[in-house]
Amino acid sequence: MKKILVVNYSQSGQLNEIIDRFLIPFDPETIERLQIQPLTPFVFPWTSDEFFDKMPECVHEDVIELKPVHFSAERYELIVIGYQPWFLSPSLPITALLKMPAFQQRLRDTPVVTVIGGRNMWLNSQESIKKLVKDAGGRLVGNIPLMDRTSNLISAVTILHWMLTGRKEKKWGVFPMPGVSQQDIESAAGFGAIVKNAFERDELDGVQQQILATGRIQIPTDILFIEQRAKKLFRIWANLIKTKGTTPARRKRLVGFFKYYLLIALFMVAPLLLTVYNLLIAPFSGNAIKKKKEYFCGVETKL
Ligand SMILES: Cc1cc2nc3c(=O)[nH]c(=O)nc-3n(C[C@H](O)[C@H](O)[C@H](O)COP(=O)(O)O)c2cc1C
Repeated sequence: MKKILVVNYSQSGQLNEIIDRFLIPFDPETIERLQIQPLTPFVFPWTSDEFFDKMPECVHEDVIELKPVHFSAERYELIVIGYQPWFLSPSLPITALLKMPAFQQRLRDTPVVTVIGGRNMWLNSQESIKKLVKDAGGRLVGNIPLMDRTSNLISAVTILHWMLTGRKEKKWGVFPMPGVSQQDIESAAGFGAIVKNAFERDELDGVQQQILATGRIQIPTDILFIEQRAKKLFRIWANLIKTKGTTPARRKRLVGFFKYYLLIALFMVAPLLLTVYNLLIAPFSGNAIKKKKEYFCGVETKL
């Protein structure tokens, strides 16, 4: 009897590998593994235009069409959702899954663990996921975000190289490898063991404490700072592009502006603001920062 539903999307295969590792400790007999696919696949590698053009729909959490999804059971004892953030929001296929009535029905009164494979910004997307799970009547008990641990600017360069060429390699042979490190991908098996033991002992409600006790999940303060501001700005851009980009040419122009805005914000404005913040504000806000990190690392939602 399959008791645990494990569902994810992966474009490059990185998240598939993370989920494969996560599942190593589990008895395969108990697992139903589903990989969802958009009806119209996103082209990989992305062109720069297509990549940035996805922002408004991601931020608005619009529903795309998925290939039919077949669940073998009406109910599961645990649901594991593997997802990736896209523009500080859940990726479009995962938003579609979480808004699918058949999946929402299975979420009801069911514990949920999320496993994230992203660059380094998962806080806002996880807030959306917390709300979508809660709205469907599910109970988020655990979250395992696996991220690129290099600096924000370097990982922005390396991920764009990966996404726009399709090659997960060292750019110019000089930059570090993009994405989640092989060591962190392999560490997913350890997190799988924690979740499996908690599941078998019927102690899923305390599993997030055990996940955090590994010390492997940390939120850098600069990421907290950026995420707390950037999503509001993305919303403004998303609304502008959706309302004013009424013809393909107008939309393309606005998305082009957004692209340059984002690159300037990321590579020029954010480093300046962060320097000021780190010098003048962060030293006096230790407690507030700690509390915010604890909230984002937790499974409760304020929304
Ligand atoms: C359109 C797009 C937007 C992305 N935005 C973010 C983001 O906001 N935060 C983040 O940490 N990673 C972001 N990423 C990286 C993905 O979360 C993910 O790590 C990468 O796409 C590999 O996932 P895969 O397993 O689907 O191939 C983005 C990727 C794409 C394609």
